[in-house]
Amino acid sequence: MPLVTLEAAMEPSATPGRIFEITARRERRLSLMLVFYVVAGLIFMLLPGTFLGVWNLISISSHRAAGTVSAGWIQAHGHAQIFGWIGTFILGIGYYSIPKLRRMKPFALWAPWTSWTLWTSGVALRWTTGVYEWHWRSPLSASAVFEIAAFLIFFAAVSGHRSEEPKNKPSEEWIFVVIAGSIGWFAALLINLLSAVYLSWEGNSPVLPHSFDQRLLTLETWGFLVPFVWGFSAKWLPIFLGLRERRTPWLLRAVALNSIGVLGALRGWMFFSTVLLLAGISAAAYAIRVFEPGERPPKIKGVDASFPVYIRLAYVWALVSAALAIWASLSPTMAAGIWGASRHALTVGFLAMMVFAVGQRVLPAFSGMRLLFSTRLMFAALLFLTLGCFLRISSEILAYQGYLESAWSWLPVSAVVEMAALTVFALNLVLTFSSRRNRGALTYREAA
Ligand code: HEM
Repeated sequence: MPLVTLEAAMEPSATPGRIFEITARRERRLSLMLVFYVVAGLIFMLLPGTFLGVWNLISISSHRAAGTVSAGWIQAHGHAQIFGWIGTFILGIGYYSIPKLRRMKPFALWAPWTSWTLWTSGVALRWTTGVYEWHWRSPLSASAVFEIAAFLIFFAAVSGHRSEEPKNKPSEEWIFVVIAGSIGWFAALLINLLSAVYLSWEGNSPVLPHSFDQRLLTLETWGFLVPFVWGFSAKWLPIFLGLRERRTPWLLRAVALNSIGVLGALRGWMFFSTVLLLAGISAAAYAIRVFEPGERPPKIKGVDASFPVYIRLAYVWALVSAALAIWASLSPTMAAGIWGASRHALTVGFLAMMVFAVGQRVLPAFSGMRLLFSTRLMFAALLFLTLGCFLRISSEILAYQGYLESAWSWLPVSAVVEMAALTVFALNLVLTFSSRRNRGALTYREAA
């Protein structure tokens, strides 16, 4: 924690007691801000994201054909999950933790609240225009403007100067990985803005053309979310899993391979791109040593003991996703099921599983030094997510590709199991925030 807050810095004559009081007050406000971000993210995840996704999948299964659901609804679901859920979590966790980790000068709290308002309004507006297509032209452009404005305020706030370290001390490399993710995020929001303005002027509906949407999705997932997860993995996993020191040059190589892979996808070179994405995720796993035995026992106080297994499983899903994408790229016109399976191995298997595991590890501590409400619910959520993801990926390939007719009947089961996982995860976090009994139960040392 920074020792000097904005308010304390403005009162140079403050006594140590006064500085402590002001710092504690700011910490409470930051925790409250984080809870608002997390709750908004959970709402986007459950209602516009998951329920619409389940509805889409049940509809596809009942028609036994992939192209039978409105593209607008599918894109609304994807946008709600990527930006509404995970993007909102990243903003909140970033605002809370990046200034502390970088020992920065404290920023004014209007920044996170303005970002929150713009971001949630932008994502909600985008979802509504995609689903209802009612007077959509101006709201579509407005939603993209709100989202990019929220991001720019965030970026300005967390990239400020450090206050408590020598100016010539080099930045830690995980920050460069997070910066790569931020560049991907900004690029995705910029392309989203340009395409929204274009559609508002020239289009017949707010729906993006399929091949453009697929390329943009590669940028949003591999170019934005994946480097963020690697950056935070590089920072936190050595502590949480007791791993040996990371191989820094390999982490930077992973980012380079991944970035070239994303650029290749934007250019439409899918085989080239997917091979590089597989090389990138392999290099990242090697750099972080996620599959190697740790040198210290993992820190599992307050979380389920299976936590290290699920972190490793998440990286296995990311490798599976990239391998499936190579397979799909070899037959680009006939591979809807393989692309869909690859995308969900990444979004549900890797990203959602990392958020479930690391989120339930850090968010209770960040939101007022709390303990997670229930480690059993954590285990249940991770188990359901794993089962749902496995069922989804296998049945999507078998059913959509026409390999096994009976797979259409387990496709909806996968949706319900995944929905159960996401609901249990949300419930556990909401109970953690609303329960007074464990507030302040952790010390800073235990939380780290
Ligand atoms: C209960 C869980 C979920 C269900 C039932 C579900 C269902 C679906 C369905 C039916 C599609 C249409 C394409 C296809 O058939 O593969 C889809 C696309 C997509 N989903 Fe999900 N999904 C779920 C969870 C998630 C999560 C957690 C994320 C992200 C974190 C996500 C991100 C996406 C994205 C990005 C797309 C592509 C959207 C587009 O084409 O623009 N989904 N999902």
